[in-house]
Amino acid sequence: MTYRPKAYPKQAIIHFFYVRLFKLVVFQIDPERIHDIMVAFGESLGRYGVMRRITAFLFDFQHPALAQRIRGIDFRNPVGLSGGFDKNGRLTDILPEVGFGFMEIGSITGDRCEGNPKPRMWRLKKSKSLLVHYGLNNRGARAIARRLQGRVFRIPVGINIAKTNNQETVAKEAGAADYLRAYREMRHIGDYVTINISCPNAYGGCPFTDKDYLEYLLTELATVPKTKPVFIKLSPDLTHREIDDIIALARRFNLDGFVCSNLTKPRENPRIFDTDFPDYGGMSGKIVDDLSDRLIEYVFRQTGKEFVIIGVGGIFSSEDAYRKIRKGASLVQLITGMVFEGPQLISAINRGLVDMLERDGYRNIAEAVGADVRRG
Ligand SMILES: Cc1cc2nc3c(=O)[nH]c(=O)nc-3n(C[C@H](O)[C@H](O)[C@H](O)COP(=O)(O)O)c2cc1C
Repeated sequence: MTYRPKAYPKQAIIHFFYVRLFKLVVFQIDPERIHDIMVAFGESLGRYGVMRRITAFLFDFQHPALAQRIRGIDFRNPVGLSGGFDKNGRLTDILPEVGFGFMEIGSITGDRCEGNPKPRMWRLKKSKSLLVHYGLNNRGARAIARRLQGRVFRIPVGINIAKTNNQETVAKEAGAADYLRAYREMRHIGDYVTINISCPNAYGGCPFTDKDYLEYLLTELATVPKTKPVFIKLSPDLTHREIDDIIALARRFNLDGFVCSNLTKPRENPRIFDTDFPDYGGMSGKIVDDLSDRLIEYVFRQTGKEFVIIGVGGIFSSEDAYRKIRKGASLVQLITGMVFEGPQLISAINRGLVDMLERDGYRNIAEAVGADVRRG
């Protein structure tokens, strides 16, 4: 059944201003520059109570039907910020006011990392996608841990870790040691950990999607007492065989779930409508939407509710989020939808989810998880 979003005046006005005015100007400027400005702006808004209250008045929406307790963590709604937008954990004070149910910081690497040379992000407007070649730029685990130590967060915070992007960390032992450094430094911060093994932009590719490498990495991480749920972030470009191997390791090492998915790399994708862009980098948004849906469904079919799935890739509306939930995601995340549609998208998705749950006779979002997938 198609869903007709109800009209919410405040949301519609913000959307109008964002898409018709703000975006027209901002989309003329280099995307990384705008990203940096938005993070700095969000961080300064978060410092002042009055600005936080105004932000909440404009954007926040919560509803009891959206609340879930997952692996001991209370999520007030299922919509989170995906890894890569707030790389250094600067937005923890403002994102709750924007209406997010949770957020992921990072990717954070063992050492400080400058990332790849600029330019390293492009807008693929016709495809509603971002082409990203950042290469894991962040301040490094120690500096980020120092700044966030002892902070109380108003929404659950995921710590997304990766290995420093350089030649040295391609080797199994050095790569695992780098992950381990980030894991250790961040162990007392945040509510869950995501191990990012699927960044398409790091030197040497994604060696830790290989089962021997991953087994070695998980063995190393298991030397640190587990204090919070651990997820693995998967690439949408994996074969079923590779996914099965990763699931088997996740079982063996008692992990909690999967983030499905990261950026996609292959250019043979029917959702690409732009031409003339670099042949390196990973693509987000609508280009990865179907691939992420298929990955969620596949993992859910294989594992059911044994693992928690966080669905991410191409969420631009409440229908997109609901579809991923019905395919097996308990939580969802986004970046690109917010960049193209505006920050009111978070409350628009949450309102839409409440309407669709009511339409379908569910009392809580958890009842809809995996509703479209037949297992067995
Ligand atoms: C600008 C940008 C930077 C990203 N950086 C990271 C990162 O550091 N770590 C990570 O796990 N994913 C990163 N991603 C991938 C996103 O977390 C997400 O998996 C992907 O963009 C699909 O979601 P979307 O279509 O809602 O953007 C990045 C994505 C974007 C657009």
